[in-house]
Amino acid sequence: MNEYWPLFGLRLAFRDVLLRPLTEADLPRLAAVLPDDVGHDPRLAMYPSQTYAANERRLFCQGYWKALGTWAPESWVLHFAVVHEGEPVGVQTLEGDDFPALRTVDSASWLVPGVRGRGLGVAMRTAMLQFAFGELGAVAAITSATTANAASLGVSRRVGYAENGLSRIVDTGGDVVDLQHFRLTAGDWPGADVTVTGFPPCRPWFGMAG
Ligand SMILES: CC(C)(COP(=O)(O)OP(=O)(O)OC[C@H]1O[C@@H](n2cnc3c(N)ncnc32)[C@H](O)[C@@H]1OP(=O)(O)O)[C@@H](O)C(=O)NCCC(=O)NCCS
Repeated sequence: MNEYWPLFGLRLAFRDVLLRPLTEADLPRLAAVLPDDVGHDPRLAMYPSQTYAANERRLFCQGYWKALGTWAPESWVLHFAVVHEGEPVGVQTLEGDDFPALRTVDSASWLVPGVRGRGLGVAMRTAMLQFAFGELGAVAAITSATTANAASLGVSRRVGYAENGLSRIVDTGGDVVDLQHFRLTAGDWPGADVTVTGFPPCRPWFGMAG
């Protein structure tokens, strides 16, 4: 399959995490451990006949298929499985909308509760950012989290993003909450010793010469 979809051969290694693109084989395991605080786009359809958790697991799988099926060098979503001690323990998502023109990436992530609070969140975001600013030539990275999400805010501040304003949104549960926006530019990125392998055959997927 890598012959037709070389992204499956991409690897980002940093400290105690390995990021590799999510595959179909990861879905049953990661859907089964999907935490209840990950949330989803509230515009997505919930099936009344499914429990809330079953809806979220279905949307997680659909998010994987949608990203592959709608990939274009101009706009893409790359879901990485986060592997720690040989086990997939979460997902780090990297997104480039109108990327060849804007050269800006957005991100989202989650970890199973059992491995949180040990620096894995910082390590996986760092690996992703080094790939974005390095191999992909991004000029800026943006991200956001609700003002109540201390762990996500902690990761963004720790890796060096600057605050970039607040907005009000309706969250997954239907509540109106404040969203803190962040931005980090390539010029402010100190760099990190991330080992990236398998990237050259992926270059056309990002609109770069092969
Ligand atoms: C967000 C998430 C991926 C962060 O991963 P993590 O491994 O828990 O975070 P880390 O251990 O790398 O900690 C990152 C920073 O946040 C701080 N932090 C972590 N959890 C915290 C908490 N509950 N309260 C306050 N600060 C916290 C850490 O102290 C650290 O800062 P420091 O290095 O300056 O001390 C993880 O908590 C998660 O999956 N949360 C649920 C899903 C989610 O909210 N995703 C983000 C949606 S925008």
